[in-house]
Amino acid sequence: MEQLTKSEIVDILKDDSQNEQLFAKADEIRRKYVGDEVHLRGLIEFSNICKRTCKYCGLRAENKNIDRYRISVEDIVLYAEKASEMGYKTIVLQSGEDEFFSRDLICKIVSEIKKFDVAVTLSIGERSFDDYKAFKDAGADRYLIRIETTDSELYKKMHPYMDFDNRIKCLKNIKSLGYEVGTGCLVGLPEQTIESLADDILFFKALDADMVGIGPFIAHPDTPLKDSDNGSFTLALKVMALTRIMLPDINIPATTAMETLNPNGRIIALQSGANVVMPNVTSKEFRAKYEIYPNKICINENPVQCRGCIESKIKSIGRTVAKDYGFHKKVV
Ligand code: 5AD
Ligand code: FES
Repeated sequence: MEQLTKSEIVDILKDDSQNEQLFAKADEIRRKYVGDEVHLRGLIEFSNICKRTCKYCGLRAENKNIDRYRISVEDIVLYAEKASEMGYKTIVLQSGEDEFFSRDLICKIVSEIKKFDVAVTLSIGERSFDDYKAFKDAGADRYLIRIETTDSELYKKMHPYMDFDNRIKCLKNIKSLGYEVGTGCLVGLPEQTIESLADDILFFKALDADMVGIGPFIAHPDTPLKDSDNGSFTLALKVMALTRIMLPDINIPATTAMETLNPNGRIIALQSGANVVMPNVTSKEFRAKYEIYPNKICINENPVQCRGCIESKIKSIGRTVAKDYGFHKKVV
């Protein structure tokens, strides 16, 4: 397994003359370590209510220009059931940091969904150790919480009232409880340096992450960063490819944000190191309202359309859709 130093990573990120070789190498390593199967995770965006004020995110509490919703427990479970009938073997439950969904409520949702013979991933933000423990005991298998950036100064600027050390603590707690841990970062935040992106990759490695999601920053008009430039698709793809090279056997999603910046973004990502896609299985009425960033894809489609669309795209590049749960199989 090839391991790069920070300065080697920085050099690769700064030099665009070898990008195609980098993507080809990440694709080769993906094939060797995790194969040609693509894991589909059915994503349910069940609440866009959030108590946080992340500067980049359209769901931030201070955004008044957004139609807030919460899906009922019954409907969340119903979407999960339908997704499992469509063939999904993992359900990802994502929301803003919405305290209405108490420990007991999340446990109830998880245990109901586990009856459908699926793996369950939670992506609901920072919670206490005891909450994380209760969710795990209720059957949750994985937890996603991006570090967003490992530059602690930038982290502070981007996340008012939040604490970088607590984020790290959450990741450690999740890991110690035996979850598969998903993390990741944004690429192209204002003032973010190439050096800090190299640190992000080394952080994923040090954490021994099971899954890493990387996406470009996309400026949302109803946030303080509305006048900032979007992140670069190519740079995000390079960070993702380097993550594959450094952590060869993990799961790496082709993120939706990539496709927002490039009409073929997820397929390009699947050919540059990614092996996972997370199609939306929430009904159409909520999709546009879960506006983390503008121009999100699939807001006019329904779950059946997205399943068909992504399956045919995957097949068109000679890959197959996996039928198992898609846990991280450690090889290295
Ligand atoms: N552009 C791109 N990605 C964003 N996220 C939040 N806001 C934006 C944005 N404006 C990402 C964060 C979060 C994930 C759910 O969405 O990285 O962890
Ligand atoms: Fe939703 Fe293609 S995945 S339309």
